[in-house]
Amino acid sequence: MSIPNTSSDIVIFGAMGDLAQRKLFASLYQLDRAGLLSQESRIIGVARHEEDTASFTNTCEESLQKYIKADELEPEILARFLDKIEYCAVNFTETESYQNLKAILDQSAERARIFYYATPASIYGSISRNLTRSGCTNTNSCVVLEKPIGHNLQSSNEVNDQVAEYFDETQIYRIDHYLGKETVQNLIALRFANPLFGSQWNQSHISHVEITVAEKVGIEGRWGYFDKAGQMRDMVQNHLLQLLCLTAMDPPDDLSADMIRNEKVKVLKALRPITLEMCNTHVVRGRYTKGVLEGNPVPGYMEEEGANPDSKTETFVAIKAEINNWRWAGVPFYLRTGKRMPEKLSQITVHFKPQPHFIFDESQRHLAQNKLVIRLQPEEGISLQILNKDHGLNKGMRLRSESLNLNFSQSSEQSRIPDAYERLLLEVIQGNQYLFVRRDEVEHAWNWCDQLMGHWANDTKPPQPYSAGSWGPKASDLMLIKDGNSWHEDQ
Ligand code: BG6
Repeated sequence: MSIPNTSSDIVIFGAMGDLAQRKLFASLYQLDRAGLLSQESRIIGVARHEEDTASFTNTCEESLQKYIKADELEPEILARFLDKIEYCAVNFTETESYQNLKAILDQSAERARIFYYATPASIYGSISRNLTRSGCTNTNSCVVLEKPIGHNLQSSNEVNDQVAEYFDETQIYRIDHYLGKETVQNLIALRFANPLFGSQWNQSHISHVEITVAEKVGIEGRWGYFDKAGQMRDMVQNHLLQLLCLTAMDPPDDLSADMIRNEKVKVLKALRPITLEMCNTHVVRGRYTKGVLEGNPVPGYMEEEGANPDSKTETFVAIKAEINNWRWAGVPFYLRTGKRMPEKLSQITVHFKPQPHFIFDESQRHLAQNKLVIRLQPEEGISLQILNKDHGLNKGMRLRSESLNLNFSQSSEQSRIPDAYERLLLEVIQGNQYLFVRRDEVEHAWNWCDQLMGHWANDTKPPQPYSAGSWGPKASDLMLIKDGNSWHEDQ
């Protein structure tokens, strides 16, 4: 890829926060290191407190040393990168205060201005208004919004409406960092560049799909935030539904942002609503109790610091989702995500239907299914489970299940897989919206989740317990067993 000639002013609101210091500056450094940040670009950190550029740059340098591998921190590039950083103190809610920022911004009308809101969504409207009123925007400005945008359809509409007063949809980049993961984008290549999969990707050939996003971490220090959200809002409404869309969508006519997003919206609209009755058969809501992870005892959710004994918040969700369209009628999409699971693992498993007629030894019939595993993290790659003849004169026609494996970090020339934020920031700089979530996607996703969470709101029972370090409540396994299926790790 060539060095972009578009130079930008990249303005990060909330520049002292965890996201900015842990991810954004590190990602921008990596872009610079890869030669993908134009040398005239500037990065302006914005926060409320008074500080000078020199001490802010020191803070950024310390963060880079912490979050970037030592062999990737090249002194010359680091010095060049730090030189691009400036600091500006702004009181986010006071228009007058934005004059400080205006004075720093490059005054050319064409130069791109990227305003990244790494702040709570409750002030997105206020920042948008003040940027515009103070004259900080030009014809080439855009805004980047972090999730969560609201906690339901209504509150997300409020935030989106406020931002839309000042920026139109082509200027708004809503982040779902899962879309920046290399393997997630590879799903598009895998599905639409390979005729082999293109022809098989439907209810005639696929029996069911599993999407698992499991994390080892618990809530550690985030109890207050997390308890208001829960796993449904934190992970399902965004990351899991995005993965579902990319797995299930029809081929877009081309790779343009709107073509891809139109297809994703169609999937969201076709999702079968979860009714109250279906909550017992199609949904499992869980909460971790104390347990053991990697040999160490860990506390339960209700024993974490700051826990409220009345909480009913879930840390685990499993859902049997169904898509009411021609391609997917009758194919369950099992979604599962949880905290304090045995491993950090994000993967999509596509189970193909068995042969209509089985001519091998009946005792081997259970083997006879192909399975495509798309591993998003860790060890990004794909594997295709196929059946072979067991080698050897004495094996007759015995079958053996084996995997064709492609490990991306081993197969690519560059062993380093870029962080999702590097990809997303690069796309913003290049003005490409295909990896960002359009407003109607957010709305349809909330609509589906709100309906389900509405049933929970009237449920007085706490979520089902599961021991930290396990794969979730027993009911999650039973949900699949009733359909004659099982989660990937049980097979
Ligand atoms: C975030 C959630 O969006 O995604 C976190 O708010 C979660 O709770 C994180 O830990 C997981 O992201 P990743 O990239 O580590 O799988």
